[in-house]
Amino acid sequence: MNILLVGSGGREHALAWKIAASPLVRRLVAAPGNPGMAAQAELRNVSATDVEGLVALAREIAADLVVIGPESSVAAGLGDAVVAAGIPCFGPSAQAGQLESSKAFTKAFCDRYGLPTSAYAVCGSAAEARAALPRFQPPYVIKADGLAAGKGVVIAATREEAEAAIDDAFGGRFGAAGARVVLEEFLEGEIGSLFALCDGKDSMVFGWAQDHKRAFDGEQGPNTGGMGTYSPAPVFTPELVEQVRTRLVEPAFAGIAADGAPYRGVLFVELMATRDGPKLVEFNVRFGDPECQVLMLRLESDIVPYLLACAQGRLAGMPAPTWRDESAVCVVMAARGYPEKPAAGGAINGADADFGADTVVLHAGTKRDEAGQLRASGGRVLNACARGATLREARDRAYAAVDAIDFPDGFCRRDIGWRALV
Ligand code: GLY
Repeated sequence: MNILLVGSGGREHALAWKIAASPLVRRLVAAPGNPGMAAQAELRNVSATDVEGLVALAREIAADLVVIGPESSVAAGLGDAVVAAGIPCFGPSAQAGQLESSKAFTKAFCDRYGLPTSAYAVCGSAAEARAALPRFQPPYVIKADGLAAGKGVVIAATREEAEAAIDDAFGGRFGAAGARVVLEEFLEGEIGSLFALCDGKDSMVFGWAQDHKRAFDGEQGPNTGGMGTYSPAPVFTPELVEQVRTRLVEPAFAGIAADGAPYRGVLFVELMATRDGPKLVEFNVRFGDPECQVLMLRLESDIVPYLLACAQGRLAGMPAPTWRDESAVCVVMAARGYPEKPAAGGAINGADADFGADTVVLHAGTKRDEAGQLRASGGRVLNACARGATLREARDRAYAAVDAIDFPDGFCRRDIGWRALV
């Protein structure tokens, strides 16, 4: 098979690493990809939101499947355009993609179809949002309505911080994504990320993990796109998985189909396991980053048949995937200053060393300069990922890779997986 993989982050490097291991794959092309992905895929410099360019590239390589990594491609309508071109596509339509591209849409969707989530208020101006604040208790959760690369959420401890976050959002901090703001009730509980595949009618759960969203150890600092993950996460008891499947996953797929946009691809359910059962924090219409990294390390099955079955409406005939009976950990190495102002261009050495059979360092935001030196080119730069018989072993291997990489302008959290290790 010829496969076009769209995207350039750590999630896409993890997908490339797993897809390239499939005996079904003859040619894997990544657009635009990143320097690390060059080990698994041919890189083509077409942006992830250049819908016309990507469809042309898919045709040029006679793609049997297009795999969409990032939400920006979904929102740009890539899924619709690929399907219209007659090419099987793993990734939803832009209409279904509203489950991520608009938090206000998703809250109304939850109301419409009875999915459990937090109380909320959608506000179109700073005055409206300030007036709505007394309806909530601290800490206040303030979210940009639109896509903000995982950085559109502020959790404010005080009313003053909340008002400042509201003013920031309406002052343009998130660009067009902050034209509306959603205030939410703060949910108490443990966070979890569960993934489910859907082919438009049939669906299956496809793994789970736990992410660390705050920038610094001890769950301190600003919210980020995710600083590290581990899988499996003990929060996902069989009972919780079943509750998430029946209360969130299946109603979501049924609801979006009833709205006229049957879902095709992976749905990422970010949930809070509360005393009253799982509640939706948000949906994302792609694999999580860096959740995908630990899932790909643990996935024993060939991923390609699952991606293709989603694209071709054949999921009902697929067995449940098999997972290694091991733990996996991903530690994000970020550029100093992330998420607010990541230092650009820091030199990196040693990232492409051989760290052993159970460790892989994935690239997330890197580039090579003209002299061939690897440099940081984004907030989250590298992902040190490892498997182990225990979570502790996986974590120690991942941090051994972190410690062997020379990235003076980088930082990472040192406590990934702490909840399962105490
Ligand atoms: N790690 C959370 C996300 O991918 O949005």
